[in-house]
Amino acid sequence: AAIEKGGYDHFMLKEIFEQPDTIFDCLRGRLDAVNASITMAGVQNNIDQIKNASRIIIIACGTSWHAALLAEYIFEELCRIPVEVEYASEFRYRNPIVKQGDVIIAVSQSGETADTLVAIEKAKEQGALIFGVVNVVGSSIARISNAGAYTHAGPEIGVASTKAFTAQLVVLTLIALKVAHEKGSIETKRFVQLLNELHDIPEKVKAALKTADAVKKLADKYKDAKDFLYLGRGYNFPIALEGALKLKEISYIHAEGYPAAEMKHGPIALVDETLPVVFVATKDSYHEKIVSNIQEIKARKGKVIAIVTEGDETITAMADDVIAVPEADEIVAPILSVIPLQLLSYYIGIAKDLDVDKPRNLAKSVTVE
Ligand code: G6P
Repeated sequence: AAIEKGGYDHFMLKEIFEQPDTIFDCLRGRLDAVNASITMAGVQNNIDQIKNASRIIIIACGTSWHAALLAEYIFEELCRIPVEVEYASEFRYRNPIVKQGDVIIAVSQSGETADTLVAIEKAKEQGALIFGVVNVVGSSIARISNAGAYTHAGPEIGVASTKAFTAQLVVLTLIALKVAHEKGSIETKRFVQLLNELHDIPEKVKAALKTADAVKKLADKYKDAKDFLYLGRGYNFPIALEGALKLKEISYIHAEGYPAAEMKHGPIALVDETLPVVFVATKDSYHEKIVSNIQEIKARKGKVIAIVTEGDETITAMADDVIAVPEADEIVAPILSVIPLQLLSYYIGIAKDLDVDKPRNLAKSVTVE
């Protein structure tokens, strides 16, 4: 078993550290930054239907749902196609409206999640194109999909998803970029710029993993907190949700993810000197706004842990603790900002002596409802 873990103490840590390689594998043969092109047969073969879709509905559960939510922001921005993100369990039971011309994207690591499978079966019957973004080759969701793109993250053993999540983000971003390029909704200059950003991501993830020692110290400092709040805006809002989910799953500490501005409508009532608030606040078009949200928390004596872009002096001066990741375009920055959050949940779980690879009550794949 020690050999399978590649020298790491747990599968979760191994899988977190594998991400520079899994992301590279996910880009391999698809991204050609030099010739400014993306090769994805599943997209290419259905390009007219996808680029002319009246609507894209993304269906998923759990961590995959968070990847879907981020994809909504990216697709709408780059492709200018309306996107809806659905919990599979809700979608399947509410007589959903699906029309011909709708494109359904199913996101699933295992490809076996019962709710996702049934949801797309229903949508398929109603005439939608089903596009699968799946990790496990040949799985049920992959087989029932009309087309798809595998995430190529390799087997994920840790129950809490890490490397499959970042691979989902990469594949969904590639799809959005390809569709936008074919549709003409993205300028060539921006297209080429984002291809280069993706090309650089594996190296930047490697750099982001270097925060591990600093994150471990944070874990020891905050491991006894009863609750955590995770806040982010825009592209980093789904990452706040994912950070909170990881912490709940691995450390059994209650954590809530929220859009940073929406916090005023509820969670702010929880803030006092005992509440750690994790801000996912890398440099993007929302930066000034999130700086004022940090001020609002500090004014109420909350403890601020901020994930920032390297060199961010403004937030460094305000926060109690700061973890810096490399600079990147706001569309791809979430792939970096999630890394310290994965590590934080891991190290808090370890500090509390919990079974991080097999948290209680959770299953790797939920094949019954
Ligand atoms: C379970 C797993 C999660 C996963 C979710 C969806 O809850 O514990 O890690 O995100 O199922 O699974 P899927 O395989 O469809 O991505």
